[in-house]
Amino acid sequence: MDYLEISGNKRLSGAIEISGAKNAALPVIAATILSTRPLTLANLPNVVDIQTLLKLLDMLGSQVEHKGTHARIDNGTMRSTRAVYEIVSQMRASILVLGPLLTRFGECEVSLPGGCAIGQRPIDLHLKALEAMGAKIEIKGGYVRAEAPGGLHGAKIIFDKITVGGTENVLMAAAMAHGKTEIINAAREPEIVQLCTMLSVAGVEVEGVGTGTITVYGTGGRTLEWREPIEIIPDRIEAGTYLCAGAITHSELTLERVNIEHIQAMIDKLESMGCRFTIGKGRITIHAPETLRPVNIITAEYPGFPTDMQAQFMAVATLAEGESLIEERLFENRFMHVSELNRLGADIWLKGNTAAVKGVESLYGADVMATDLRASSALVLAALAAEGTTRVRRIYHLDRGYDNLEGKLEKLGAHIIRKRE
Ligand code: UD1
Repeated sequence: MDYLEISGNKRLSGAIEISGAKNAALPVIAATILSTRPLTLANLPNVVDIQTLLKLLDMLGSQVEHKGTHARIDNGTMRSTRAVYEIVSQMRASILVLGPLLTRFGECEVSLPGGCAIGQRPIDLHLKALEAMGAKIEIKGGYVRAEAPGGLHGAKIIFDKITVGGTENVLMAAAMAHGKTEIINAAREPEIVQLCTMLSVAGVEVEGVGTGTITVYGTGGRTLEWREPIEIIPDRIEAGTYLCAGAITHSELTLERVNIEHIQAMIDKLESMGCRFTIGKGRITIHAPETLRPVNIITAEYPGFPTDMQAQFMAVATLAEGESLIEERLFENRFMHVSELNRLGADIWLKGNTAAVKGVESLYGADVMATDLRASSALVLAALAAEGTTRVRRIYHLDRGYDNLEGKLEKLGAHIIRKRE
């Protein structure tokens, strides 16, 4: 198994490019199921999760040509509607094929994703919404079996809780449903906006894009026609992670190909910690101070502070001067990085869903274990600032979502090597 060896306590400098957003690319790939026409996607990140979803499409009978940051997907030859456990268990986001398969083929079977390290992550809201649109759903043998022989119909969906994946599944299902679907309490993430834009460019009428109420007028069973290639938006979580790398190492570094609006919540928090920024068109330079101030964070849905950046900011807070409070509101168990950060010398106390992070003078390299994708990047950040050598194990989590992490950090001057046990 691969691990990363990082010699820390070094300044970073220079510039890197941010890749396309994994979480935007996944629903876009799933949405290609809504058409029998080929579509080219550009600016895909080179990460395992993307390969996993493309493999799933291939298993369903699609023609997929994937090279570098581009993929050409032709779902005209798609025959199977069964998303098997072997793939879905590798990546929860595979559940995103449920809505498009059901609305296009009138039936499908998708393995239940199950829980994961950061919490239970049920899909009850996805299923309830599809039922309201006329789907008959049963859970059997670990699979969601869904049927809607005459197609789905539009409905008014009120989500009890804001769900990114649930909103995406309903958007895709609604695109080919009969009539109007109104989604109340919809997610507003940039990834949702990209999906809505993709649907509207293909001729689906979508109103309220980027707001909490989205209305979709379905095509009534007609498959969609793509008109142009789709360029995946920049990854705001990857950008945030590198800003944290700048902050924790007291460095000045530049990120290119970013969307500043998407990372505003992170910029605000880093500013409150004493960092300054120079912002240009699609680029941002962080100027980090010698001494970081503590920060208070409560995770929330977009445009609030993203749960996917909670672990990385906790790593930065470990070296701030004073006590930071970090409250996790979205996932019940997203603090697996706490004990590992403490192994590096951090002083973090957990009470319920709040972590009190008392800043320490220094962190010290040690062997640590990655537990989930973003927790892994928090350990890498801490290692960049720690004295001595840190080995971060189980980095397959990182490979799921960070494109060329060690290459980009190396370009910024970090001492980081991938090794095999
Ligand atoms: C997506 C992101 C993930 C991010 C999360 C929250 C992708 C591929 N993943 O995950 O990186 O951390 O949004 O921003 O885009 N919930 C239910 N029932 C449901 C669905 C969700 O109770 O049917 C709960 C979840 O357990 C969680 C909350 O709603 O507590 C938000 O989850 P959701 O927005 O659905 O997250 P994902 O789409 O899985």
